[in-house]
Amino acid sequence: MKISVIGSGYVGLVTGACFSEFGYEVVCIDKDKKKIELLKKNKIPIYEPGLGDLVIKNTNANYLSFSSNLKSIRGSKIIFIAVGTPTARRGDGEADLKYVFQVCKQLSKLIDKNDKPIIVTKSTVPIGTGKEIIRLFQNLCPKLKYEVDYNIASNPEFLREGSAIEDFLRPDRVVCGVANPQTEAILKELYRPLNLREAPVVFTDIESAELIKYASNAFLALKISFINEVADLCEKVGGNVQMVAKGMGLDNRIGSKFLHPGPGFGGSCFPKDTRALYASFKKNKLKSTLIKAVIDFNEDRKLKMVKKIKILLKSPYKQKKVAFLGVTFKPNTDDLRESPSLVIIPELNKIGVDIHAHDPAFNKSFEKIKQFKKVKWKKNIFDAVKGADMMLIHTEWNEYRGIDLEKIKKLLRNKVILDLRNIFNREELENMGYSYSSIGKK
Ligand code: UGA
Repeated sequence: MKISVIGSGYVGLVTGACFSEFGYEVVCIDKDKKKIELLKKNKIPIYEPGLGDLVIKNTNANYLSFSSNLKSIRGSKIIFIAVGTPTARRGDGEADLKYVFQVCKQLSKLIDKNDKPIIVTKSTVPIGTGKEIIRLFQNLCPKLKYEVDYNIASNPEFLREGSAIEDFLRPDRVVCGVANPQTEAILKELYRPLNLREAPVVFTDIESAELIKYASNAFLALKISFINEVADLCEKVGGNVQMVAKGMGLDNRIGSKFLHPGPGFGGSCFPKDTRALYASFKKNKLKSTLIKAVIDFNEDRKLKMVKKIKILLKSPYKQKKVAFLGVTFKPNTDDLRESPSLVIIPELNKIGVDIHAHDPAFNKSFEKIKQFKKVKWKKNIFDAVKGADMMLIHTEWNEYRGIDLEKIKKLLRNKVILDLRNIFNREELENMGYSYSSIGKK
C-alpha cells in the first residue's frame, strides 16, 4: 500500500517514518525544497529522539522517500495532510486552516479516480473541517464522486514531542473518523500492524474524531492547571502538592499522569489547541467558562513564576544574576514554542536581572529569539551558575537531576535554588545549606 504524507514537519515526518517502519511504501512531501534536500541526505530538521535512525533505516530499505513535488502522491491509497494549523493572526484564537485548504486545492487537481484515495487530516483541525473539505472537493472536482472516487477521513495524532516514536508505535489509542464502511476497512488495514500491540483503534464519525483531539488536549491542559492551582494553596497553607497528586492519581478515575505542577504548560499544542477550542465555542455562540479559565490561568501562571523569583532574589534586582537551567517547554526537545521561559526571561531582564542560561538542546537559533536577546548562553551548567544569585530549574532535563550539588554550592554567590519542576529533595538540599524553594510546598 502506498501512503503519502503532505507536510514534513514534526507530525508528518514522524507519521511517515513510522508507517514506513511497518513496511508500507511512504513518500513524505513538503513544499520546502531545502528541507526535502536535507531529508534526502538523511539530515533530520527537527530534534526527536529515535527519528533519525528510523529515517535512515527505512530510506535505505526503500520504504521511505522524500519529494517536494505534490505529484508524488500518484498511486497512493492514503494521503495524509499533516501541515501546520497555527493560531490565526487575527481573531479569537481560532486555528488558521489556510495551509490545509491550500493543500486540498492542489490535491483536487491531482486526484486519480483509479487510485480511489482516502484523504486524511492528521493536522489538528476544528470540528466541522472535514465537512468543509468534502464540500471543497465536491466544488473543485465535480467530475469525481465523493465516496466512490475518493474519500475523506480524520485521523488525529496524539504524539508527544520527545517520545513521538514510542507514542506512534505503542499508542493508547488510534482514532479514525470516517463516513462509510469502505474507508473504515482501509484504515483498519492500515493500522493492522498495531493489532499485535493491542492498541485500540476507535472508529467514529469525522466530527467526533476532530473533537476528540481538541477535547483530549484541553482536558490534559485543564489537569495541569488544576494541579498548579492546588500547588498554590499548598504553598500558602501547607501540604505537599506531590503527595496530593500521588493520592489523587491512585484513584483510577483520575490517574496519575499530567498531575505534575510547574511553570505552566507550553509547546506547540496545548496553548494553541485550547485557544482554538475556545474559539469553536465562541464561533458557535456557546459559552465556555472552563476552557477560558484554563487559558487565562496558564497565562497568569508564568507571571506568577516571575513574582516568585523576585521574592527570592530580593530587591534591588539590578545586576542580580540568575542561572536559568532549561529554556525549552519540556525536556527532550529543542522546541521553544510558547515555553514559559519566553515570558519569564524578558520580565526578569526588564527589572535588570542578568540571565545566564543553559539548555542541553541549545542551538544557534536560540540566540535569534527576540525574548532571549539579552541572555548569555553557557555551554555547561557550571559556567551558568558561577557567581549567580539563584539557580533556577525551568525544564526538567535528565542531566539536571543528577547535578553535582556540592560543586554548584561552591560556584553560586547565593545558595538559592528555585526548582520549578520539583526534581530535587528539599531535605537533602537544606541539609547541604541551600535555601531551597519548589512548587506546591510551603
Ligand atoms: C501534547 C499531548 O501530550 C500529545 O498527546 C498531543 O498529540 C500533542 O500535544 C499534540 O497535540 O500534537 P506535547 O505538546 O509534545 O504533547 O507535550 P506534553 O508532554 O503534553 O507537555 C505539554 C506541556 O505541559 C509542557 O509544557 C509540559 O511541561 C507541561 N506539563 C505536562 C506539565 O506542566 N505537567 C504535567 O504533568 C505534564
